[in-house]
Amino acid sequence: MSQHLLAPITLRDLTVRNRIWVPPMCQYSVAAGDGVATDYHLMHYGSFARGGAGAVILEATGVVPEGRIAPQDLGLWDDAQREALRPIVDLIHSFGAAAGIQLAHAGRKASTEPEWGTPHPGASLAGADGGWETVAPSAIAYDQLTEPTALDEAGIDEVVEAFVASAVRAVEAGFDLIEIHAAHGYLLHEFLSPLSNQRTDSYGGELAGRARLLLRVVDAVRGAVPVGMPLLVRISATEWVEGGFDLDQATQVVTWLGEHGVDMVDVSSGGNAVLPEGAEIPVGPGYQTPLAAHLREHTEMPVSAVGMLDTPFQAEHVLATGQADVVRVGRAFLREPNWGLDAALALRGDGEIVPPQYRRAFRQALRR
Ligand code: FNR
Repeated sequence: MSQHLLAPITLRDLTVRNRIWVPPMCQYSVAAGDGVATDYHLMHYGSFARGGAGAVILEATGVVPEGRIAPQDLGLWDDAQREALRPIVDLIHSFGAAAGIQLAHAGRKASTEPEWGTPHPGASLAGADGGWETVAPSAIAYDQLTEPTALDEAGIDEVVEAFVASAVRAVEAGFDLIEIHAAHGYLLHEFLSPLSNQRTDSYGGELAGRARLLLRVVDAVRGAVPVGMPLLVRISATEWVEGGFDLDQATQVVTWLGEHGVDMVDVSSGGNAVLPEGAEIPVGPGYQTPLAAHLREHTEMPVSAVGMLDTPFQAEHVLATGQADVVRVGRAFLREPNWGLDAALALRGDGEIVPPQYRRAFRQALRR
């Protein structure tokens, strides 16, 4: 059987050992609220590298304190945060995987209670509990969250600078690739969408205006990191609602991203609009893959597919049929941190990827 999933892939100077990548997943585990990674993060991210992932991309990491979804998020706005990430990168490397980090600003969806361990998961954090004022392209609230303040030009410049400063720290910490979060209704996605961006200045209006901030961030980060380092962007290729950011607009934006030096786009969806009563996102196995396949076909951009690609054969099929260049496996890796080892063996890999300490445990499979 051919093994697309196990084939290496090269982006700029980086060769990643396989196409099984772990997408960013917030862990809300910085109990101290200072954005500094802990032993939990070391163990959590290291386990995916040991478990056969080609690349492990760390969770949405705030480029400024007010850009965190919740106070328990990782941050990269200071040097202490950078130093705490270094051992995680080293551990990922020690298992032969590449280390990536998703740099993020949560915009109008910042300052919320984390998904677990609090009375109102996902609700706006009260000021008394450490909540802060959120920012966005326009003063339009997301769902029940508090109304954000529209960013002025100086505020926009600060966002760009913050992405650059965090990217530089990510390089210093040893990361192999950087991903800019422009999906799921966070700040850069909010600018892209006509639903959340109703600005009348050069950052709003037509698609070129709405894409301006993202392209500015891309240009600035691209110019600040080594030429050989891959730069990725995650987008929501559709908002699943009439009048929102859709696949046609995404196709244009991805074309621009390619022209601005982005090396791969990860294709997710949704997160910026509450669907009308009765409407539903067609969630199911591989439900976002057609979006990735469309963008791969209609642009020059390599893409990764994500979303309920839970089994090795399903993931292999996505690659074998040319729908994507890389597959990202999220929750299935949380359930089974050795997902990559199992996949390698299921696809009749040679077992090289199994760490020597674990070979005895995988012996039966290795003998096949
Ligand atoms: C996520 N997701 C996510 N996406 C992102 O761009 N940045 C993030 O920090 C997070 N955080 C996060 C936390 C948790 C616990 C989950 C389950 C998901 C979305 C994630 O990267 C992925 O796109 C989805 O989980 C869909 O892929 P799977 O899980 O079906 O393989």
